[in-house]
Amino acid sequence: MICNSSEELHALVLEAKTYTKIGKVADYIPALGKANQNDLAVAIHYPNGDCLSAGDIEKKFTLQSVSKVISLALVLIEKGSEYVFNRVGMEPTGDPFNSIVKLETMALAKPLNPMINAGALAVTHMIEGTSVESRFDRLLSFIHEMTTDSTINYCEEVARSEFETAHLNRALCYFLKQNLIINEDIEQLMDLYTKQCSIEMNSLNLARIGVVFAMDGIDPTSGKQIIPKEIARICKTFMVTCGMYNASGEFAIKIGIPAKSGVSGGIMGAVPGKFGIGIFGPSLNNQGNSIAGIKLLELLSKNYSLSMF
Ligand code: DON
Repeated sequence: MICNSSEELHALVLEAKTYTKIGKVADYIPALGKANQNDLAVAIHYPNGDCLSAGDIEKKFTLQSVSKVISLALVLIEKGSEYVFNRVGMEPTGDPFNSIVKLETMALAKPLNPMINAGALAVTHMIEGTSVESRFDRLLSFIHEMTTDSTINYCEEVARSEFETAHLNRALCYFLKQNLIINEDIEQLMDLYTKQCSIEMNSLNLARIGVVFAMDGIDPTSGKQIIPKEIARICKTFMVTCGMYNASGEFAIKIGIPAKSGVSGGIMGAVPGKFGIGIFGPSLNNQGNSIAGIKLLELLSKNYSLSMF
């Protein structure tokens, strides 16, 4: 077990918190701009149900790009890996999360991976169902199962704010539609995608999802295989190679934990075979990752030798 107590974790949060001043809260989705730059929270969820937490753990935040790993796991379960990877690639880009450039310059117009926005939009398009509501319900039920919290829902204000301003994501969708990667109405897909990104929870909930990935897709309490082992493995590999976008290489070297970030400041970590981590720190660095959250993961990884490499 790392950290003998929440006090020990609290000391690491205080050390990392100084970094919140250096970063900046995302405001390209206007509603996210309301976050408190100084907030920082961490939760660690062990397979035996023990939980350690420190900081502003009562604060809820929207998943944003953290949701991309969860939607990927769902479509891999529903459609199988051949179907999914015929439409989205497996390679890191080295570009920012919302970049459009590789779609046009690559010989095949399919998005390079499911963690960049273009790839995530293609993945969300694959969620089965006859309406946005039924497709969103599938995703939400999957999250309820992993968190064991059926009260989790999406934040309407953030969803609406992104829906009204997501012009670049619409451009990515039109490009994908032109190239036959997607074939649905773009406004409908944007409705589903912005709801997915606005699913709201706290760090403890996020750590609970992290532990399911860490334990090869098994719910540690019930013993149920929620995600097939092979799919959990694929998701964790994407977290290592693409989870932090164009900072993934440095993150793998310095920290070495499969992790996925979002512009709300959330980071989900899955330390294989050990525990799940949920972090919230809305002050971001230039790559759109939680600046204090990354510092905190660096401290945890160094102090407790968590790197998998
Ligand atoms: O599509 C977007 O731009 C947001 N809903 C999610 C982007 C995001 O979280 C990137 N992560 N660092």
